[in-house]
Amino acid sequence: MQIERHRTWAALLLLSGAAGCAGNGKGLDQNGQPISAGGTSSGPITADFQSIQDNVFTPICSKCHIGASAPEGLQLDAAHSYNLLVGAPSNEQPNLLRVKPGDPDSSYMARKIEGASGIDGGQMPLGEAPLAQTTIDAIRQWITNGAPNAPAAAAAAQAFAVQTMAPLDKATVRAAPARILVTFTHAVDASLVNDTTVTLERVAGEADAGTQAMLITAALAPANSAVLLITPNSALDPGVYRVTLRGGGGGALADMNAATLGANTSFEFTVEPAR
Ligand code: HEC
Repeated sequence: MQIERHRTWAALLLLSGAAGCAGNGKGLDQNGQPISAGGTSSGPITADFQSIQDNVFTPICSKCHIGASAPEGLQLDAAHSYNLLVGAPSNEQPNLLRVKPGDPDSSYMARKIEGASGIDGGQMPLGEAPLAQTTIDAIRQWITNGAPNAPAAAAAAQAFAVQTMAPLDKATVRAAPARILVTFTHAVDASLVNDTTVTLERVAGEADAGTQAMLITAALAPANSAVLLITPNSALDPGVYRVTLRGGGGGALADMNAATLGANTSFEFTVEPAR
């Protein structure tokens, strides 16, 4: 059923893509060919993030992996993909990173596109032809090279801000997340990550005990310091949870240039009772 819904989406996206082709060249790849929505990759792909985004993540993966319904909270559109992949733990297999720089064999995303044995769920792209071997090789090579980001001129010009989080604000999740992810536009100053700048509270639960502070471990992802990992010390019971990042005052969360978020930033998500 999940997949049926994704297919409808894909059809809609195709339609809007076709409309966009008319005058401005949008919807065309770097060779001027219409971006293929099929499982085969389009155009020559090189082992750099921009090429992989343009040839794979945007045209093939982000049909499903986008917005609030992105499977496993993994958004693969250009605005979100890098930090949700590199250094970020898999939801299906929390002991593995989706992309572990330098180590494609231990990168869960690589395993998923290869259909390696031991993965949970299906080979990606789900229900479509597997990626071409040359495409998989380019992605593996990019990981082997340390999974560098695209030239980050645009990112440097952006203010320090929260980019996205998983679970998303207002999301309802069926299983308690092993970790909560928050990604930022810039690398975060690790010395400012502590239990006063990052807090998790249960704001509503079954036994209504009012707002309750949760014990957590907050740390930056070792391979990507634009990714904050919040690990509850014990599994989260069903209820509504609020994450707050302290954005102002002494010792507030900041990037490496001491720019802060300016104001506290909060988001809430609900862990559903087991059915
Ligand atoms: C037709 C929809 C669809 C497409 C297209 C798709 N995915 Fe997925 N993806 C899913 C679903 C649903 C899941 C969760 C169930 C599963 O793993 O089978 C998933 C899970 C994943 C996971 C596991 C995430 C985690 O945290 O454990 C990764 C990695 C992934 N996809 C990568 C990709 C990549 C890369 C592409 C493009 C090459 C892609 N997917 C294309 C639907 C899709």
